[in-house]
Amino acid sequence: MAKVKIGIIIGTTRAARFGDRPANWTKDIASQRDDLTVEILDLRDYPMPFFDEVASNAWVPSQNEVAQRWQKKVAEFDGYVFVTAEYNRGVPAALKNALDYAYPEWNKKPAAFVGYGSVGAARAIEQLRLIAVELQMAPTRTGVHIQGADFMAVWKGGKEITELTHLQKNATDMLDQLIWWANALKAARERPAIPAAA
Ligand SMILES: Cc1cc2nc3c(=O)[nH]c(=O)nc-3n(C[C@H](O)[C@H](O)[C@H](O)COP(=O)(O)O)c2cc1C
Repeated sequence: MAKVKIGIIIGTTRAARFGDRPANWTKDIASQRDDLTVEILDLRDYPMPFFDEVASNAWVPSQNEVAQRWQKKVAEFDGYVFVTAEYNRGVPAALKNALDYAYPEWNKKPAAFVGYGSVGAARAIEQLRLIAVELQMAPTRTGVHIQGADFMAVWKGGKEITELTHLQKNATDMLDQLIWWANALKAARERPAIPAAA
């Protein structure tokens, strides 16, 4: 079976962000597998304005050149891991904006989530799961939540995420589910459309 292409999206953009660390940790775990290829997508490389098009690109092609470049990049992948913080109990605005700036590119593909913060971004991820449904994505059951004392130990305490060995099984389960869905949905997307009945 061909390898599926997985994009790991870093959901925050501020200069002092923590997001690189869980993104690289996820990439390192994913890179040990032979059933996928993986690439980090950094929203800093796609500095889009707050959504400013006449409509979603579900309906009208976007004019903004960075948005067009983002949509082209998103389209390359068979599934995604969203690495996210929680800002005031919600999805970081940069990530929501990036989600809004594509539509067909997300459709019929799976989404998995790695969160970090006092509750492992659980509340933001619950919101992302609903958003994923609107984008016609399949969210995986299992996510990874780097939370509470674990998060503090890595954020301020000099620990590495690799030392949180109890997170490994969650990451493996999450990737197993993501890859299953990515293969299933890739096959379904590639199947010829059934002609409409006369
Ligand atoms: C604007 C803002 C709002 C935040 N709100 C929450 C929150 O609701 N829940 C939480 O667990 N942490 C919250 N935090 C703390 C973040 O979990 C922590 O700063 C984390 O490092 C943010 O991710 P980033 O470094 O990738 O930007 C907030 C941080 C910021 C900057």
